Amino acid sequence: MDAIRSGDYDPSQTWEDDMNYQRFFEEAIDQLHAERRYRVFADLERIAGRFPRAIWRANGRAEEITVWCSNDYLGMGQHADVIAAMQQAAGGMGTGAGGTRNISGTNHPLVELEHELADLHGKEAGLVFTSGFVSNEAAISTIARLLPNCLIISDELNHASMIEGVRRASAEKKIFRHNDVAHLESILQTAGRERAKLIVFESVYSMDGDIAPIGAIADLAEKYNAMTYIDEVHAVGMYGPRGGGITEREGLAHRIDVIEGTLAKAFGTLGGYITGKRTVLDAVRSYAPGFIFTTALPPAIAAAATAAIRHLKASQAERVAQQTQAGRTKDVLSAAGLPVMASPTHIVPVLVGDPEKCKAASDMLLEDHGIYIQPINYPTVPRGMERLRITPSPYHDDAVIDRLAEALIQVWDALDLPKRDQALAAE
Ligand SMILES: Cc1ncc(COP(=O)(O)O)c(C=O)c1O
Repeated sequence: MDAIRSGDYDPSQTWEDDMNYQRFFEEAIDQLHAERRYRVFADLERIAGRFPRAIWRANGRAEEITVWCSNDYLGMGQHADVIAAMQQAAGGMGTGAGGTRNISGTNHPLVELEHELADLHGKEAGLVFTSGFVSNEAAISTIARLLPNCLIISDELNHASMIEGVRRASAEKKIFRHNDVAHLESILQTAGRERAKLIVFESVYSMDGDIAPIGAIADLAEKYNAMTYIDEVHAVGMYGPRGGGITEREGLAHRIDVIEGTLAKAFGTLGGYITGKRTVLDAVRSYAPGFIFTTALPPAIAAAATAAIRHLKASQAERVAQQTQAGRTKDVLSAAGLPVMASPTHIVPVLVGDPEKCKAASDMLLEDHGIYIQPINYPTVPRGMERLRITPSPYHDDAVIDRLAEALIQVWDALDLPKRDQALAAE
């Protein structure tokens, strides 16, 4: 024991047979480099009121650039009403929530936010979490754990947060081929009407921008007596007459048991939520560790989110302008010969098909053209499907779109990337 008295301990001394902890972390990082999927985050500072402009800092320099890949899809993070709501709530109630809801109660702006969300989706209740990721992980796992012998049936392209929810449920799972209702039906049929079943899927898949056959999935859920859970993260605020997502646009919200969404994308703030029947949400509230044992969303964030939701319930201007500019971006880039992948939504994926070139294209756009579009590589998309994922907003005007097309063409030529016909033929 004497040898480990603090006075005798020499932290620089190592022994041959000592466990070298550091090495494992270095190897893990080296592997990412070797697979060309080590992530580098750009140092950015958005400029409120000048969306989509931002300041990019690198190598001691600070430059103004245009962001082309933000998930603040409608620029609501800089909307005057949303900023004012946040400032007012922080001024009146302070910055933090003061603890978990169990300890500190539910701050009043959070109560209002949950009412607003229930109303948005036409549901009995809403329950807010600290992020969309946490809402999926906590809600899917808790719902499935509370159902006896539940079979989770999950779309193969579901987001990582839904996959975590499925894993944590420790229930049996079956994966159905992406948007393949025939495959889904065969799984439901085998499981039978008697068994508890939870179908989990998304409305808009964010990497390809495609949309699930929600009506057909709801039909099957009714036929085989299954519960349905939809992630509308990439659709809330942007689709439907009040921004209730694709389920609202298609008049299907009442046919889905749980609608999940985020406050961090079109609503411009932070947090996630589920809406549905009061009993289901009360059970999740009461049993989900990811809800119970973490500090609640602060009042200022809740108030800002409510302001954004209220604005987008009433205003069509942002939705219309976003669809117009997304359509124009697709047309201009396609006309320039770039391999724009077909998508019926606001998401504009441009295929690169190589991880190193995808990263190089992103670097070149930023360094030479002042345009920020992050590379999307494996495992976010399959190998060979690496891409630039472009998200036009209402504030990317026609001149900005034309500049993007010119910059992309220069980058495509410099890196000898396949143009539209070659790339999409090989897809
Ligand atoms: C489909 C989907 N669900 C959930 C999330 C997580 O949402 P949040 O960013 O609010 O944690 C994301 C994040 O990008 C997502 O793409």
